[in-house]
Amino acid sequence: MRDNFKSSFGVLVAMAGSAIGLGNLWRFPYLMGTNGGAAFIIIYLVLVFLLCLPIMMSEFVVGRRSQVNAFRAFKVLSPKGHWGIIGMLGVLAAISLIAFYCVVGGWTIDYLVHSVTFSLPEEGATEGFFSAAVSTPGRTLMYTYIFLIVTALVLLAGIKDGIERYTKVMMPVLFLTIIAIAVRSVTLPGAGAGLEFLFKPDFSKVTADTFLNALGQAFFSLSIGCATILTYGSYVKKNEKIVKMSSLTAISDTFFAIIAGLAIMPAVFAFGISPSEGPGLLFVVLPDIFDQIAGGGIIAILFFFVLFIAAVTSSISLLEVCVTFLIEECRLRRRTAVLLSSGVCLVLCTLCALSGSVLSDVHVLGRTFFDFFDMISANFLMPFCGLLVVIFVGWKMKREAFVDEISNGGTLPNTKLYNVIFYLVRYVAPIVIAVIMVFGWMKQI
Ligand code: ALA
Repeated sequence: MRDNFKSSFGVLVAMAGSAIGLGNLWRFPYLMGTNGGAAFIIIYLVLVFLLCLPIMMSEFVVGRRSQVNAFRAFKVLSPKGHWGIIGMLGVLAAISLIAFYCVVGGWTIDYLVHSVTFSLPEEGATEGFFSAAVSTPGRTLMYTYIFLIVTALVLLAGIKDGIERYTKVMMPVLFLTIIAIAVRSVTLPGAGAGLEFLFKPDFSKVTADTFLNALGQAFFSLSIGCATILTYGSYVKKNEKIVKMSSLTAISDTFFAIIAGLAIMPAVFAFGISPSEGPGLLFVVLPDIFDQIAGGGIIAILFFFVLFIAAVTSSISLLEVCVTFLIEECRLRRRTAVLLSSGVCLVLCTLCALSGSVLSDVHVLGRTFFDFFDMISANFLMPFCGLLVVIFVGWKMKREAFVDEISNGGTLPNTKLYNVIFYLVRYVAPIVIAVIMVFGWMKQI
């Protein structure tokens, strides 16, 4: 018998938990920093609400209508053809994402340990501290593995007792700490330049690259295109409201990203750090901010703790995609499926964790393993999988089936809205994703 989420609130928190994570707090600020600030934010917002939200609903529809894992879902809904390949692609995207996600999750634990022991670096020493954290093989590996083990342990507890219980508690704490950090950041002397960077768009710097990066970030942040929402959707009861759940998830996820931008960027300018610092941005800037807040040491502990939890609630949703697939397709017990998928991730995480040290000279497509897995999952596999999902839902599944599922069998009244969503899925989403991917990739390869 398949497990189900117990309540609507449980579904919502699990979806928001999957979406809100390192993508919002770590990846969004640094990508925005390297892609020109406000113009990137505007493009990102348009893509999230016009394109990615309908895609999220489509994944939800496929998952809940089929009530099976990502691979089988497409076969159940369309027995003829090879549509199951979309699900496989989603599983692949999820694994590629976990490969480097666990490394960043490991950095979070590293910083949490240093906050608990009050040994975070002081102003001026933060860049050196971060470099040491990523370039010391034993240290990076240890924390990466701890993060992966925690993820696996939560999943061993199963859906109801694992995901639902852990995700319910932490979001409000994360919200409050990030607000406290944002308030301090925007009131730092010199923060004005950061606010200008955030809110005054300069479209002259926008290229095809900017669009692809914004698209990849939207997929990454909303956890779409990697079968996560589809898999969670398959555990959701038939009376849950897909449009409402998806919209609330996208709104809260975007809200967290913007607040994270407000927390980081003004401080970046106030401390004279380069906004295009790259993946280390969050970890370089935050200790500087904590230094400037009364009770900063305690806020640092709280922040890194909840960041760690937010990262785990995302990584469990990613690994669950592989676990559900193995349980249902290879008839494995949950314990074996968790061990097997964690084993694969362990190998890939090791490659990514060593990218800052012994494997720094090994490159795939001109990138270290860490950058390769980041780029291939967010800028290729996830949007490509999303493209196939909307083609499937828009062209294969047909409007009646989509509207039937999204309106809970016709019991919800908003038919006009559902039709609009369907046409976004059928026409707008495939064209826009394809154009952004083709032009973006011509620049990035
Ligand atoms: N959506 C997850 C995050 O943003 C992967 O961290």
